Amino acid sequence: MQIVNGFSKFSRSEKLNWLNRETNLSQQTLEILDTHLHREEAIQEVYGDLSENTVSNYYLPLGLAPNFLINGDLMTLPMVIEESSVVAAASHSAKFWALHGGFHTNVLGTSKVGQVHFTWSGDPETLQAIFNQNMVLLLNSVTPMTRKMEKRGGGITSMEIHSAHPELPRHYHLFVRFKTADAMGANFINSVLESLASQLSQMLENDVSEGRLEIIMSILSNYTPESLVQCYVEAKTEVFRNMSPELSADQFARKFQQAADIATHDPYRAVTHNKGIFNGMDALILATGNDFRAVEACGHAYASRNGSYSSLSRVDVSEGSFRFSLEVPLSVGTVGGLTGVHPMARASLEILGNPSAELLMQITAAAGLANNFSAIRSLITTGIQQGHMKMHLGNMLRQLKASKEETRRATRYFANRTLSYSDLSAYLDSIRNQNQQE
Ligand code: MEV
Repeated sequence: MQIVNGFSKFSRSEKLNWLNRETNLSQQTLEILDTHLHREEAIQEVYGDLSENTVSNYYLPLGLAPNFLINGDLMTLPMVIEESSVVAAASHSAKFWALHGGFHTNVLGTSKVGQVHFTWSGDPETLQAIFNQNMVLLLNSVTPMTRKMEKRGGGITSMEIHSAHPELPRHYHLFVRFKTADAMGANFINSVLESLASQLSQMLENDVSEGRLEIIMSILSNYTPESLVQCYVEAKTEVFRNMSPELSADQFARKFQQAADIATHDPYRAVTHNKGIFNGMDALILATGNDFRAVEACGHAYASRNGSYSSLSRVDVSEGSFRFSLEVPLSVGTVGGLTGVHPMARASLEILGNPSAELLMQITAAAGLANNFSAIRSLITTGIQQGHMKMHLGNMLRQLKASKEETRRATRYFANRTLSYSDLSAYLDSIRNQNQQE
């Protein structure tokens, strides 16, 4: 392959011709790229413009998980995910908990953070004094940018100078807290920070006798531990009486707690445990056009806040009562960004009743806790593979190019057997051989 110049200026067909020359794509792949374009040009343009160098679309299924009872309201959750068992797991869990009080959620805060990183060659106390004298001026300088957000209940809520780290002498940052109402607010925060940075350097460059200030960068932080939501389910342990033929209700609750406790202390288990939480949360974040990379990065940092990686959820069992809770930072929006542009994100928000950002935080946490509950329930009873492989059967049958009749027979055959790819492949071979001999 050769270095290509001006690729972004090529038309779609020029891009594909170039790709074809360089990689010798099969005709089938070229056709797939074509058939996955949206049939309506205007809509395709919307999808194409979400990114750069677009040549096709990449579909993921949007599924529905009904029966989510959240703070007394029944909801259906739109979930975008490629893993076959996630929507089913969310739905099972939602239905179970809808019959036992539902999910209870609570937003603990919605503060976002931005930083202007800079160096200052002078005395730290002088820097602090200059900052204190000029703080109001600095804030006033960005009012044209914050006015609209303030009308919506947002804006800057605090601004401080922090020294960066003992390993980084003379490095500081302006630590700015924001509220961004129903927007995720990344663009708003970054624009305000860049303006604050330029005001700050202008203020200090007039008088260099005290020291020199150099701006390094201005950027929001995706770590938002003060944009925090809690979600829990609770019930008497007797509600678990039918969870497993091998476990009594109390045994189930105790084993569930043991599984959760392991994730509290063992990072190897905690990562997988939290992955199960993000199965549910990411699916909703994606469906609603939010930034799953930001949500994931923040959640995992929060899971490490006490010095070692731990689980985001906790279980308490005492005196016959079971409480399963999740606390997770979430920075999401329901206006602006992709939420207003992507047709499926708009549809998902409508399915949810056009929630506020705070409500979306709560719904997302409920999806996370629901999936976490289903995963642990399977792990401590049947094992994860039984349900997983059953859900995956369709994908494997497609991969093995099974006909309708073969699919029907294989589904029946594996209904009560443990499924693996090699067993399925051997089974299909056997019925194909049988057919040839007949
Ligand atoms: C699979 O996507 C997620 C699980 O591994 C989560 C867990 O182990 O808790 C089942």
